[in-house]
Amino acid sequence: MPLSLFRRLLLGALLLVIVWALFGPSGLGEELLSLSLASLLPAPASPGPPLALPRLLIPNEDACGGPGAPPFLLILVSTAPENLNQRNAIRASWGGQREARGLRVQTLFLLGEPGGRHPAWGSRENDLERESVARGDILQAAFQDSYRNLTLKTLSGLSWADKHCPRARYILKTDDDVFVNVPELVSELVRRGGRWEQWEKGMEPQREAEAGGGGWKGGSPTPVSQPMPLLYLGRVHWRVHPSRTPGGKHQISEEQWPATWGPFPPYASGTGYVLSASAVQLILQVASRAPLLPLEDVFVGVSARRGGLTPTHCVKLAGATHYPLDRCCYGKFLLTSHRLDPWKMQEAWKLVGGSEGERTAPFCSWLQGVLGILRCRVIAWLHS
Ligand SMILES: *[C@@H]1O[C@H](CO)[C@@H](O)[C@H](O)[C@H]1NC(C)=O
Repeated sequence: MPLSLFRRLLLGALLLVIVWALFGPSGLGEELLSLSLASLLPAPASPGPPLALPRLLIPNEDACGGPGAPPFLLILVSTAPENLNQRNAIRASWGGQREARGLRVQTLFLLGEPGGRHPAWGSRENDLERESVARGDILQAAFQDSYRNLTLKTLSGLSWADKHCPRARYILKTDDDVFVNVPELVSELVRRGGRWEQWEKGMEPQREAEAGGGGWKGGSPTPVSQPMPLLYLGRVHWRVHPSRTPGGKHQISEEQWPATWGPFPPYASGTGYVLSASAVQLILQVASRAPLLPLEDVFVGVSARRGGLTPTHCVKLAGATHYPLDRCCYGKFLLTSHRLDPWKMQEAWKLVGGSEGERTAPFCSWLQGVLGILRCRVIAWLHS
């Protein structure tokens, strides 16, 4: 029996409301997904022996110090030695932001050692040192910089943050082809920190020092009494199976992840995920017992799971999606967007008002505001 026009309209409207509730600005969908995850976790594993990580060639130990408050957000950008143009595009755009919503933000680049095969790489080592002296934002560790060594790179960065920047509240791990909406990300983290953040802000600075030294440091997995929230926030991938394609970029062998283990545990896309300082400590403690997978984001997810930490899904983090340049999306709704070359990075920066600071017009019209991230996703989908 064919539906009457009225019923069809009603059905259509109902569908729209459901889709809007799940994917729209309300964030109901991600809340539901994240809630359902927590119940599936096994009990946390005990901490392993300390990690043996490559030593630091450019340790930049004081990058996080200086007068004033410690960084609220430390951004670690995974980059390769030869990607100078990408680094400069970040420095000239979002990476140049030292402050957002009155809180300090610090951006550093993570690198390994240039490989030997490239003819121009003989002088790269010196180039990097010069760049580090001029910019002061380089962290380099002693391992060969290659795609299959990205886990070492991330672990080196997290370990650096834990040692040399322990008072940073949150750490964003991202890549050099990602646009980061720093002010909105800071707002999002303050929002998620909830009352705890406000409480902290009123209690500086003695409280800060205690929080930095406490937490998971004691070698015991009992959380301390400080209400230091654990956060692992990103674009979560559920039930991804290891790729066995020989020679593939993401190949995982049977020894690294036996088929009997099933899919990977939920993990946040490596293009941009946030860990609270407490979550970084937790991951570093269990990491030595986790299977050393070459996929850094999967590795972090596996470690987090061993530590009993659930990833929280956030639709505003782009994951592998490239969003076409759009002022409303880039200025208001997206926290990251993937696959921007240096030129596009600058374009995106100009679009959101860049360094001018003074933003005269609002980012979104009323309708754009109501549609929120849903509209951005439709644009990206139409564009792909
Ligand atoms: C990773 O780095 C180590 C140390 O430099 C090196 O021996 C190894 O070959 C690298 N692995 C890959 C897959 O590039």
